[in-house]
Amino acid sequence: MTRLTMDTGSYVDVPKDLLKEIERLEQLFSTDTAKLKQITEHFVKELEKGLSVQGGSIPMNPTWVMSFPTGYETGTYLALDMGGTNLRVCQITLTEQKSEFDIIQSKYRLPEELKTGEADDLFEYIADCLMQFIETHHGDTGRLEKLPLGFTFSYPATQNYIDEGILQRWTKGFDIPGVEGHNVVPMFEAALARRGVPIKLTALINDTTGTLIASAYTDTKMKIGCIFGTGCNAAYMEDCGSIPKLAHLGLPPDTPMAINCEWGAFDNEHKVLPRTPYDIIIDKDSPRPGQQAFEKMIAGLYLGEIFRQIMVDLHDNHDVHIFEGQDISALRKAYSLDSSFLSAIEEDPFENLSETADLFQTKLGIHPNTHELELIRRTAELIGTRAARLSACGVAAISKKKGYTSCHVGADGSVFNKYPHFKARGAQALREILDWPEKTDPKEEDPIEILAAEDGSGVGAALIAALTLERVKKGNMHGILHPENFR
Ligand code: BGC
Repeated sequence: MTRLTMDTGSYVDVPKDLLKEIERLEQLFSTDTAKLKQITEHFVKELEKGLSVQGGSIPMNPTWVMSFPTGYETGTYLALDMGGTNLRVCQITLTEQKSEFDIIQSKYRLPEELKTGEADDLFEYIADCLMQFIETHHGDTGRLEKLPLGFTFSYPATQNYIDEGILQRWTKGFDIPGVEGHNVVPMFEAALARRGVPIKLTALINDTTGTLIASAYTDTKMKIGCIFGTGCNAAYMEDCGSIPKLAHLGLPPDTPMAINCEWGAFDNEHKVLPRTPYDIIIDKDSPRPGQQAFEKMIAGLYLGEIFRQIMVDLHDNHDVHIFEGQDISALRKAYSLDSSFLSAIEEDPFENLSETADLFQTKLGIHPNTHELELIRRTAELIGTRAARLSACGVAAISKKKGYTSCHVGADGSVFNKYPHFKARGAQALREILDWPEKTDPKEEDPIEILAAEDGSGVGAALIAALTLERVKKGNMHGILHPENFR
């Protein structure tokens, strides 16, 4: 069996002060089965509240994606992904072959300063990247027909229409003034027009919705799409009859509607999540205090920062002797450690944790002793384990709400794909929450299995553009603001 946590019995020679801290951290970060079940119960209620007319703290945004793909969608589409770290532009051709596609893509770095600069600068940079992509792949843009584009905008946005997105609030460290509360589409389209980019926006989508649809394109058991990356969130297909806040539209109750949960906002009221003093500091010092309580305990943007906060706190505590007499100024820099730093610690294969020692030395100029290394490793495990176990509560809550006892969940994002043991720890937590019996054969599938997703912001965005064009062709104009872009 994979070793998911360190055996506490191995801390035989660890000095008392460090041992006490390890035990304190174990207490603070523990998420036992009973706690996970309590969180999940509350989560189900919050999902329902978000769909109600009164609303709740989880936005539960309708996305106007009104069907799963059949696998027979066709056509060529552009897709733009504005994630937390990169910009990606793709051209996707959905071929005649069922569930098959061709893709060409380019990545562009999203300069850090654009995340906190002016909106126009950000959208013009994006327009320039798109233009560069089209010129490279299509040559002269002068005579080109406008290409349909699916724009993956992975921030909470109210979508009264599929081609509209009113940013509720920035997440993932973005802080651009004048955008919150506004529709981002005209800002984007104005930049395209200024640069003469031959594109028509067909759908604004969230990465989770893209993940759900792209995964369902190749696997019909896929019912939930999740992202565990810089941020964290999920989408699933709801029936309009279960969305009281859409009742005024009079849609038939069995009409499907993909919901972008924006579950990062779960428990902003701090009712159930086991918050530590470190989570409280991170929240207080973030650009949006009081927001994204769940996300701040799980997402890649915060995992390294939680670890850093702990290390600084222990060093500054006079009852604890850690990194004594050493210069920890590099460690004092906020957000200087990302989740790959924690991954590397958890991945250190050596008994004496020599790779972790090298990492501390090169990255932070700190030389930890053997016992400090053990505390470091255990701290990383606790943070990583808590993140994986809490994220399972969200998956369990959607499954319970929908009555899914067996399905696939498509997941993407750097934490899911790269963080050691994240998948196994999440699967174990799901087993505990949903009371599954232990497996008899290790190869056996779990009833609800979280699997690596298909490319949501590429293929998913293209599919959503295709599904939208198709339903418009059939006369379903619900949630379409600019019909002219669909002809
Ligand atoms: C955003 C979501 C997004 C998630 C994953 C969160 O910070 O609010 O819209 O789906 O990150 O990228």
